[in-house]
Amino acid sequence: MIRSLLLATAALAIASPSLASSRAAIVPAPASDTPREGAFSLDARTVISAPANDAQAQASARYLADLLARSRGLKLAVRAPKAGERAIVLERGGPAGEAYGLTVAPQALTIRSSGDAGLFYGAVTAWQLATATPGKGAVVLPARVIEDAPRFGWRGLMLDSARHFQDVAFVKGLIDRMALSKFNTLHWHLVDDQGWRLEIKKYPKLTEVGAWRVPAGTAAAADIDPKTGKPRVIGGYYTQDQVREIVAYAAARHITIVPEIETPGHAHAPIVAYPQLGSAASPPTATSGDWGVFPYLYNVDETTFAFLDDVLTEVVALFPSRYIHVGGDEAVKDQWKSNPAVQARMKELHIGSEAQLQGWFISRIEQMLKAKGRKLVGWDEILEGGVAPDATVMSWRGIDGAIIAAKLGHDTILSPAPTLYLNHRQTNSPEEMPGRGQVVGLKEVYDYEPMPAALNADEQHHVLGVQANLWTEHVRTQDRAPLMYYPRATALAETAWSPAARKDWGDFADRLPVELDRYRSLSLPFGEAALKARALAAPSGAGAQVTLLGAEDVGQIRYTIDGSAPSPAARAYKAPFDVPLGTTVRAQAFRGQAALAPASATVIDARAARTRVSQDLKSCTQGIVLNLEDDGPVRGERARFLVDVMNPCWIYERADLSGVAEIEAAVGQIPFNFQIGADVEKIKFRPPATPAGELEVRQGSCEGAVVATLPLAPAAKSDGVTVLKAPLKGAGRADLCFSFTQKALEPLWVLDRVTLVTGHDR
Ligand code: ACM
Repeated sequence: MIRSLLLATAALAIASPSLASSRAAIVPAPASDTPREGAFSLDARTVISAPANDAQAQASARYLADLLARSRGLKLAVRAPKAGERAIVLERGGPAGEAYGLTVAPQALTIRSSGDAGLFYGAVTAWQLATATPGKGAVVLPARVIEDAPRFGWRGLMLDSARHFQDVAFVKGLIDRMALSKFNTLHWHLVDDQGWRLEIKKYPKLTEVGAWRVPAGTAAAADIDPKTGKPRVIGGYYTQDQVREIVAYAAARHITIVPEIETPGHAHAPIVAYPQLGSAASPPTATSGDWGVFPYLYNVDETTFAFLDDVLTEVVALFPSRYIHVGGDEAVKDQWKSNPAVQARMKELHIGSEAQLQGWFISRIEQMLKAKGRKLVGWDEILEGGVAPDATVMSWRGIDGAIIAAKLGHDTILSPAPTLYLNHRQTNSPEEMPGRGQVVGLKEVYDYEPMPAALNADEQHHVLGVQANLWTEHVRTQDRAPLMYYPRATALAETAWSPAARKDWGDFADRLPVELDRYRSLSLPFGEAALKARALAAPSGAGAQVTLLGAEDVGQIRYTIDGSAPSPAARAYKAPFDVPLGTTVRAQAFRGQAALAPASATVIDARAARTRVSQDLKSCTQGIVLNLEDDGPVRGERARFLVDVMNPCWIYERADLSGVAEIEAAVGQIPFNFQIGADVEKIKFRPPATPAGELEVRQGSCEGAVVATLPLAPAAKSDGVTVLKAPLKGAGRADLCFSFTQKALEPLWVLDRVTLVTGHDR
């Protein structure tokens, strides 16, 4: 068995990286940073000062004091300095808006901006200078002059609170973190098929009904709530008081919250609450724990527009944002096509297609927003069927939406899938959180250039900025969200803030360990799995060949096989190497002298060399893979399976069959809770030979001869994974293909891991 020991974070070898230049380790990198002679000593006697009658400057001074206290343990007084006292001085004048100047000189660190946001960002940079060297207490800051201003005005992250709900403290925590990276926009996805999360006083059922659901799967269905005698529901919503509190919290950190109220699709939850809003002949009667694209659309009755107008009236009263997001994506038109009232309305309006009806629908909403003094933003589907006159387009299906929008004279925001969709895994490590299976690594996010080359200088002015999105279908618990956002959001922050010419992957990677230490100093979690080294073994002669994986593009893996902890001086991993069975391989990724994550320790034994988890198996086809969490047990650890739900089939490449006597497979079942319309017909299974079905193992190819059959009956009643065994004999190396026989789609059988057991292990 592979055993991974995680060494304590405290044991990390910490040292500042040798920076390629004398620039400070600030993330996002400032526009210009020029070293000067001398240094500023920051210690507990340093004071922070701001003009006495300037509430915003005072707030930024206190914000800096709080950050320094929490990260460095330096408790600085916020007051006017006495003669001769060293001070961090926030002062007015100079750059406007979000821009600021910062000077570090022996007697003072001065932050200057005439803008409130500029002073705030200067304070964030001052904190980063004070934490560029890890540790607690006093620190010496080399003198420098920084001139800084953002590249883009829209520097966004999206949080999907509809698919899974996060509490108020989480949202505030995300806002806090965004401020540290100079993000200024939180796009808050509050409505989707699976949940309506915003209290609307006029329509209480939106949250009484639409904010709660029974999760998919048999485990949740069997989890009866003693209070109701029915399956326990999950969910929640934000009261208007809570929203006001969050909006104010964000504003204090110079972050605008742009709420999203989805129309005309992704409307299952509100239609369950108020069926008269829908277009289907038989409206849905229960909220749903399915994912995918639901067919339910709002109808186009005037009463429905009145409802949306009422909702938006309450929305704009809560959110001062200039922009209100109204969705517009993935509205499949089947229900509009088959609804006589919708068709009659189209005739009356001389609208020739359902796509144009959507254009008309979104234009109606734009008029409502305009009347309330706001601007509409929508996903790029709003370009289809006639774009509303002043709409801003968020380009997610690649960048074409942004190009078309800008060429038509519309503002646009770049948020393309998959690169800026942080619901994708950032590593194929089995420790990685559930999410979409295609890996979107840190470097891919960093390297993303948002300005489309197809736009001329005039058109480029329509590009407001860039945004990364966290959809939460597979982010079941809120503690996992930061592990998906970070550190990739930090990489995007640099794209959003720093001048394009300042971007340099190697330089960013040099600054990364410092930034990660800042997170550690504030106890802010981030996705460490992608930065960890891990060992994957395969049989080799009497021993095993070890491949080390992890921290690709970011660091150098170093390892030991003598029991000692890896250090920056340990052997650098270059290529797979052989070890005797029983060896413990300790591996850790470093950037220069700095460890990126804790070390792993893997005992390489005969089982480890012949075990593959689903994440290390190959998918049989080029379909979309998901890293899905089991639906059970309801409480406690759940398995994670990498699976193509359209073709659940895995290949163990070049498996060593010599001496193998038996195969062990750990299998699980998951609900098929994907709304994929007619595509469901494309999913094919071989028919089962026994009532519960079988796992079939084929050799050579997926059409090859069956070499082992594992009946599923012993696993049929289990909520978790079950280990099945069957004899398997072979010789040499061959690909093994694994697939399940099934009568029906539900539940879907999935492979967790497979071990080839030699006669000699048994
Ligand atoms: C989207 O991902 N449907 C905007």
